[in-house]
Amino acid sequence: MEQFSFSYQKTTVAELPTTIQHLIQASEDVARHAYAPYSNFKVGAAALLAGGSTMVCANHENASYPAGTCAERGLLAHINPTEADQQINAIAVSYISDAKTQTPLSPCGICRQTILEQQLAQNAPIAIYMCSTDGHVIYVEDATHLLPFYFSSKNLEL
Ligand code: THU
Repeated sequence: MEQFSFSYQKTTVAELPTTIQHLIQASEDVARHAYAPYSNFKVGAAALLAGGSTMVCANHENASYPAGTCAERGLLAHINPTEADQQINAIAVSYISDAKTQTPLSPCGICRQTILEQQLAQNAPIAIYMCSTDGHVIYVEDATHLLPFYFSSKNLEL
């Protein structure tokens, strides 16, 4: 049998470097502006770009439910991974909800696929900080860790 394994870190916002604390704060701030009247589950995503700037996006729902967009995919839609200063070093994801659990939010399957497209196109790993509502964070240093056996452009090569 072959084996796939990866390391992740369970930590708190307070223990992370200041740059990442700011990134997480940016994701929390934008979550407040989410348009999520149907689920009332407000998600904020923030990307730290290689050029030093931060981009943010929140989820945007629709009465036709499948037309809604996750925060992470809204964020990535604005970024061109082949432009050096738009390469993403890290993404933080936070949320606001009345749900029972406060567990860190990890990106949904479609968002994992989208983040991976960005990582493969920029040819550099994207660190992902998944945040709870009470200051806990799970961190992986590479998007492939969230989606082993991913589908990619390689599968489409003729
Ligand atoms: N959502 C995100 O924005 N990102 C995720 O990774 C998980 C789910 C949104 C979609 C929908 O608007 C709401 O959260 C509830 O699923």
